[in-house]
Amino acid sequence: MKTIAFLGCGTLAAIIAEGIKNDLSGHYSITAVCDIREEAAKKLAAECGCQPFTDIEEMLKTGPDMVVEAAAGSVLKENAAAILKSGADLVPLSVGAFADPGFYGELSSLAEENGRTVHVPSGAIGGFDLMGAGMAAGCLSASVVTEKPPKALMNSPWFKGSPDDTEEREVFSGTALEAIEKFPKNVNVAVALGIATVGPDRARVSIRSVPGLPRNRHTITLDGNFGHAAVTIEAAPSSNPSSSSLAAYSVLALLKKLASPIQIG
Ligand SMILES: NC(=O)c1ccc[n+]([C@@H]2O[C@H](COP(=O)([O-])OP(=O)(O)OC[C@H]3O[C@@H](n4cnc5c(N)ncnc54)[C@H](O)[C@@H]3O)[C@@H](O)[C@H]2O)c1
Repeated sequence: MKTIAFLGCGTLAAIIAEGIKNDLSGHYSITAVCDIREEAAKKLAAECGCQPFTDIEEMLKTGPDMVVEAAAGSVLKENAAAILKSGADLVPLSVGAFADPGFYGELSSLAEENGRTVHVPSGAIGGFDLMGAGMAAGCLSASVVTEKPPKALMNSPWFKGSPDDTEEREVFSGTALEAIEKFPKNVNVAVALGIATVGPDRARVSIRSVPGLPRNRHTITLDGNFGHAAVTIEAAPSSNPSSSSLAAYSVLALLKKLASPIQIG
């Protein structure tokens, strides 16, 4: 039985915690949760029957085997080293933080030095098996078109629209790295594509505002020596319009895979 702690007790953490309790309780036990909002930590802790924390250092003293980060990119950056040094593996959801090559390199070294692993879940997209195979074949180019309703883009400083917009339009075009500054809360998918393939500085991203779109849509295109692939994911939003609940389910799938003697994909 592995012990799991949560850093961030918001929308996605609640879905993951419920999935662990319902389907994975034979393999994992949630032993601690942490959120800067005390009421959020207490609520999730009550649902999981574990201890709430508002201070991550205190939470890490409980010695979890694994920490699921479901807070924000800045929180991941601030706390990843402490998590790995405490002896826990890390499952980060705020993958946008990996666009910083310094952070990516530091995390990689720290994980190695401490004998830990950083398990990046597939999040709100899929196709990582294709991305890996495409990279192995060589000469890969990778891009993603992300389409969201305006209300899901409102939390980004660059977006100058309103939830009542009626016209579909492209609001950003560039690399995953360039997208960070302008759409920091909408880059997880683009950065995940980047780190799995040609790098965030070369993976291309188009972000489109599509009024009335019922589901966030991501279309990934890969071209290379292996051939051509296009993968479209239409993910239902969670109660947080910026986050697809698929991202939470991808953590449950990852945990299930880690506990399984047969690895598929
Ligand atoms: N990888 C992906 O494809 C993908 C998809 C969707 C969302 N995400 C990311 O997952 C993360 C969680 O998303 P969500 O929808 O659950 O967000 P949310 O806003 O519902 O929850 C985030 C929680 O983190 C807490 N928090 C903030 N700062 C903290 C700190 N310093 N210490 C502890 N807790 C802190 C907040 O109080 C909040 O309760 C976000 O960073 C989001 O961008 C990733």
